[in-house]
Amino acid sequence: MSLLITNIKQLITFSGISKKCGARPQKEDLSILEDAALLIERDKISWIGKESQVGLSFPRKRESMDILDAKRMVVLPGLIDPHTHLVFAGSRHEEFALRCEGKTYLEIAKEGGGILSTVRETQKASLKTLVQLGKERIQKAKSFGITTLEVKSGYGLSYEDEMKSLNVISELQKENSLRLIPTFLGAHDFPPEFKNKKEDYVALLCQKMIPVIAKQKLAQFCDVFIDEGFYTLSQTKTILETALKHGLNIRIHADEFKALGGTELAVSLKAKSVDHLIAITQEGINALSNSQTVATLLPGTSFYLGKTPFAPARKLIDAGVTVALGTDFNPGSSMTQHLLLVATIAATQMKMTLPEVLSAITYNAAKSLGLEKEIGSLEVGKKADLAFFDVPSYEYLLYHYGDNFCKKVIYSVKQA
Ligand code: NIG
Ligand code: FE
Repeated sequence: MSLLITNIKQLITFSGISKKCGARPQKEDLSILEDAALLIERDKISWIGKESQVGLSFPRKRESMDILDAKRMVVLPGLIDPHTHLVFAGSRHEEFALRCEGKTYLEIAKEGGGILSTVRETQKASLKTLVQLGKERIQKAKSFGITTLEVKSGYGLSYEDEMKSLNVISELQKENSLRLIPTFLGAHDFPPEFKNKKEDYVALLCQKMIPVIAKQKLAQFCDVFIDEGFYTLSQTKTILETALKHGLNIRIHADEFKALGGTELAVSLKAKSVDHLIAITQEGINALSNSQTVATLLPGTSFYLGKTPFAPARKLIDAGVTVALGTDFNPGSSMTQHLLLVATIAATQMKMTLPEVLSAITYNAAKSLGLEKEIGSLEVGKKADLAFFDVPSYEYLLYHYGDNFCKKVIYSVKQA
């Protein structure tokens, strides 16, 4: 069936951004169409034009289509959150209180809190409980205008519990939920029982978990948290190379607290994305600027951990790097799913312009997931993933921060 959407105040198509593959987004690259209409056929965009063209040079008869009145709303591509840890149980509100009293994230982690406390809760939780929690979180993401979510495992840290977490994601996908991109993050931390034999856990990841997960197609990406006290450069290399050998794509958590060479390694392995980058070096920036790897920045995490400086977004963008933004939604370092709030933080704290932040949560986020040919901009032939916002103009989305103006999303997760 065809669906004609009429009466769109501003259609932000991002077609100019798409032509530039996400580098150095300028205002004109948002390619805004005022007083627009859009036609959807078989889940794809088949026509975009001015409202006044409907009925003139228009491909279909009005009677043959369903009509949706956008009521003068602003329409964007469905937002894309390219970095979440959505599968977890429990809460870490006590840690938040401790951090506000001056304890640091790494101190809490060293004392057995942090990631490992969520691991204990997630291991205890049943698949059913995690699916229920996941459903609620997906509904929440949808309410914010998000239609695609990357979702990591990583709070299981045993064969059974990592498989459970990835199975939660595939159960959620079956529910016709948003488009979910599963990432295996078994290398999020080391399980306590492997504290003195870390290489054995790396072997378990490489010899058992990655081969099974790749074979069962439970993940599209493999991720590693390389940082002091977590994974070393050589462990990261071993894990990522194994993942590539098994046909998984790669993305990593790098340079969050300390630069250990993760960015340069990921770029050399053609990772789709390197994420965090608070402590990135000039060498890391140079490596990224000569690559197709996207820098996914997570300023909500800096904000929430009260850490400055933020990742050097300006330097990255000015060097021609494609920059995406994600929430990093997780119970420890970024307990929010509000992608547009994170975008406002990016604008004010990292000095990103509005075209840059909006590209970072649409086209550039799609590129970080390898999906830029399908989603992330509104162009004929692409998927009809749309978010409708009741605002006077697109700038208002960032300006009126913390509120939510999304009234509707349209999306399809069916394969073409
Ligand atoms: O991306 N850096 C590692 N992982 C998460 C934090 C996870 C947690 O604290 O539970 C992050 O910030
Ligand atoms: Fe993360």
